[in-house]
Amino acid sequence: MNLIVRQAEEKDIKPMAEMDILCFTAPWSEDSFRKEIEENPLAFYIVAEIDDRMVGYAGLWCIVDEGHITNVAIHPLFRRKGIGEALVSVLLEHTAQNGIRSYTLEVRVSNAPAISLYSKFGFESAGLRKNYYEDNGEDAIIMWRKS
Ligand SMILES: CC(C)(COP(=O)(O)OP(=O)(O)OC[C@H]1O[C@@H](n2cnc3c(N)ncnc32)[C@H](O)[C@@H]1OP(=O)(O)O)[C@@H](O)C(=O)NCCC(=O)NCCS
Repeated sequence: MNLIVRQAEEKDIKPMAEMDILCFTAPWSEDSFRKEIEENPLAFYIVAEIDDRMVGYAGLWCIVDEGHITNVAIHPLFRRKGIGEALVSVLLEHTAQNGIRSYTLEVRVSNAPAISLYSKFGFESAGLRKNYYEDNGEDAIIMWRKS
């Protein structure tokens, strides 16, 4: 598997939005991705490619010395191949080199694959946000990874 991980750029906006539709019940719009990639100075997004095809992406906001992970999404046909883990690893390593000391995220309580992925990187549950997700009222687990 010839996996390439690189920083997201303008050409990735449409494929990222298409990926979101495949991966999330409440996907972000193309416009949201455009704002993230082109306008948000706090945002850092990376994409994973195999043979020039985007198979996943991940991103976070760098707020002072905290990284707030926004999304990690892997195309359904490319899951369980270590790509999600590779993306989180690059995200953490790159931003740690740029001064990020702790990381946080919200994840649906039902999302066992993602909770397991983040736990592998030392993220721990730090509480719940009740009814956090508007589409179904599901609670979010707040996870933190502190150095
Ligand atoms: C969660 C997600 C990103 C995992 O990506 P992936 O490339 O399949 O994950 P990897 O193959 O790198 O697996 C890494 C670890 O994640 C966990 N994991 C991944 N899929 C899992 C599953 N179906 N069940 C349980 N654990 C799982 C495991 O801990 C795994 O480590 P292991 O292989 O040693 O068991 C992917 O399932 C996805 O895109 N889901 C939909 C979008 C989403 O929910 N994103 C996260 C919320 S922001």
